Amino acid sequence: MKFGHFDDAKREYVIDTPRTPYPWINYLGTQGFFSLISNTAGGYSFYKDARLRRITRYRYNNVPIDMGGRYFYINDNGTIWNPGWSPVKTELDSYECRHGMGYTVITGKKNGLKAEVTFFVPQDYDGEVQQVVLTNESGSDKTFKFWSFAEWCLWDAQDDCTNFQRNFSTGRVEIKGSTIYHKTEYRDRRNHFAFYTVNDTIDGYDTDRDTFIGLYNGFNNPQQVLDGKCGNSLADGWSPIASHYKEITLKAGESKTLVFILGYVEMPVDKKFEADGKTINKEKALAMMEKYNTPEKFAAGMAELRAYWDKLLGILNVNTPEDKVNRMVNIWNQYQCMVTFNLSRSASYFESGIGRGMGFRDSNQDILGFVHQIPDRARERLIDIASTQLPDGGCYHQYQPLTKKGNADIGGDFSDDPLWMILSVSAYIKETGDWSILDAKVPYDNDESKAKSMLDHLTVSFYHIVNNLGPHGLPLAMRADWNDCINLSCFSDTPGESFQTYTNPKFKAEGGYSKVAESVFVAALFTYVGPNFVGILNHLGMKDEAAKAQAEIDKMKKAMMDSAWDGNWFMRAYDAYGKKMGSHECEEGQIFIEPQGFAIMSDIDKDATKKTLAAIDERLNTKHGLVLNNPAFSKYYVEYGEISTYPGGYKENAGIFTHNNAWIICAAAYAGEGNQAFKYYSEIAPAFTEETSDIHKTEPYVYGQMIGGKDAGSDIGQTGKNFGQGKNSWLTGTAAWNMVAISQYILGIQPDFDGLKVDPSIPSSWDGFTATRLFRGAKYNITIKNPSHVCKGVKSMIVDGAAVEGCVVPYVEGKKEVNVEITLG
Ligand code: GLC
Ligand code: GLC
Repeated sequence: MKFGHFDDAKREYVIDTPRTPYPWINYLGTQGFFSLISNTAGGYSFYKDARLRRITRYRYNNVPIDMGGRYFYINDNGTIWNPGWSPVKTELDSYECRHGMGYTVITGKKNGLKAEVTFFVPQDYDGEVQQVVLTNESGSDKTFKFWSFAEWCLWDAQDDCTNFQRNFSTGRVEIKGSTIYHKTEYRDRRNHFAFYTVNDTIDGYDTDRDTFIGLYNGFNNPQQVLDGKCGNSLADGWSPIASHYKEITLKAGESKTLVFILGYVEMPVDKKFEADGKTINKEKALAMMEKYNTPEKFAAGMAELRAYWDKLLGILNVNTPEDKVNRMVNIWNQYQCMVTFNLSRSASYFESGIGRGMGFRDSNQDILGFVHQIPDRARERLIDIASTQLPDGGCYHQYQPLTKKGNADIGGDFSDDPLWMILSVSAYIKETGDWSILDAKVPYDNDESKAKSMLDHLTVSFYHIVNNLGPHGLPLAMRADWNDCINLSCFSDTPGESFQTYTNPKFKAEGGYSKVAESVFVAALFTYVGPNFVGILNHLGMKDEAAKAQAEIDKMKKAMMDSAWDGNWFMRAYDAYGKKMGSHECEEGQIFIEPQGFAIMSDIDKDATKKTLAAIDERLNTKHGLVLNNPAFSKYYVEYGEISTYPGGYKENAGIFTHNNAWIICAAAYAGEGNQAFKYYSEIAPAFTEETSDIHKTEPYVYGQMIGGKDAGSDIGQTGKNFGQGKNSWLTGTAAWNMVAISQYILGIQPDFDGLKVDPSIPSSWDGFTATRLFRGAKYNITIKNPSHVCKGVKSMIVDGAAVEGCVVPYVEGKKEVNVEITLG
């Protein structure tokens, strides 16, 4: 069942009911100011850091769901409604929400009055602009009352929801004309304020929540709206809000447009106030208001935003026989990659933005998905991340975006972290050809005196693995590898102890983690990522270093076949007692997804590849995607850490973790199994799940982190309960990896050190496809023909009329357009 449809020409998802199976949201903003907005206008705004600089308040996990947002209320002779249905939830005569690239349009109609509200955050602008167009379609004159509403957060979102004995006494506002200023703490240590304004006169306002809503009312029935008036309240402590009030009369057929701005302003300390020392200096705020205070200026801002996305989405464009693939690749997957670049895992309805900073592994993987769109910002991000690395190649697992410093509370020793940086820096060089990044001087532990070249960072990353091997010559598992919930050193049976940061007394003397527990996943990742490091060294003419690194990769491959091959797939690990994990010998959790894909793509053994792909299909595949492990754990295995704390079928315990599904899609495509790759792709790609939105529940235009697995409900005798239900949408490494899987492995358009490689692995039923790709200053027009209906195999490649061997289009400096024609066979 669907709840809307794709409008590809406009790059919008059109939602036709407010009762979606979950709030379906969008992200506004690309630089400093960000907003989340649901299809009923719920959500919140912040500046740069969702925790430290929160502008509007949001109550997570609320009942009913998604309460709090920017709301407009209409009282039309006693009928009270919102253009986005919620929070009043009066049945509308019509409703539509269009989520587009960086904007959202919500339109509601009731009793002949139409309200169309467009929300966006303009480029280079620290505010959300909202245009309300009210049209009287009733055939006779109409007089009604209109309110805006926003609830201020007292800046630090975590403090805001905990420290009430202070917070109930600090709220302050200032009102001038049609603008409500939120100046809590501005008099003392803060040099920033926020404002909410409208480009028209108002008939009143409220800034005190209890006066506007009433202590025992809710967002669904604010007292002032019920009474058809306003309180002109001035907040002093308690809970400051911003609400404008206006009485409006429209003749039959007449429209009125109002432009609201929710803005954020920072001021130099000596310019904070007017001469009286207490009135806000509004110079900057007024200039911001001036910028979007007419419908014409509003339209110009929207046009600029469209041009920005036209440019970003113009870099890669494909035309395949499958519309759903085209809309994922050309629009939504790339859009989601940009959102994950902007926000990493910090601010959503699930990652609430009051806890985590930027993840070392997460942010490195995100680079893979957006590096082609904004290579300069990718370079900056790479240097930020590398600056938090430690001199021995270890890494802080997270860093804070505002300070850019490693987070000491979470610390390090996550065994996979360093490898992702080799992968992301390689991806950057392959995309741009900018080898100079390797010479950039990058600090260790944010200490400039310890700065060394980026190449040095990659070298210590590589050898951090080599220098930390266990008894079988496989990498030590440490606190966790990619799977945060396989904690072969940090296991504990005391409630509340963190599985990632707890130091088990057993391993204290050994440096905090077991010297026996080994990760086959990290081994596989090492053999997949390692050749990139070797490629870099060879390019730099460092032949001895390259040979030395290659020897380590070969040794690791041998260790994997000797000690980690289980007969039909690769094992997952050795635990701290030296026992096998992820083997057919185990009672539960016999096969895990994570090591398989990277092992296949490392060309360890042809026969192993075949058997592994078959085992994946048999043991892990379902109609909703590949589960993480099988069988699910039904008991608590203390020595494995967090994983078996989840009931079977959820999260890391046999949930469908879509992030690692992409590794199998890549691997199947790599191995030439284009049909198998495409089958797995279409099981999880959002556009394909649209038809079953009632089961999938989360947005059909973006990936989520997890989908309930086939074992969900097995613990309670309801196997299959929540099977197929998506969870934790938007901020996930799935976005980047599925972008890689579809564009680089299935469609096969893959930047390489020496040029653009084109080596598709597609469904054999396809006749071919075409694509355009901007790459290092040239436009590549790519045509793929598949007359023999194979999956993979470049039979011939013609570049600008001349036959070229292989499938890498050699890079020629200065060329502006390149025509590539490939015949598979
Ligand atoms: C979450 C984390 C990611 C981790 C994954 C698996 O998505 O953000 O870092 O790899 O879970 O545990
Ligand atoms: C992942 C896990 C979560 C864990 C967290 C720690 O997101 O899914 O359970 O607590 O990582 O970083």
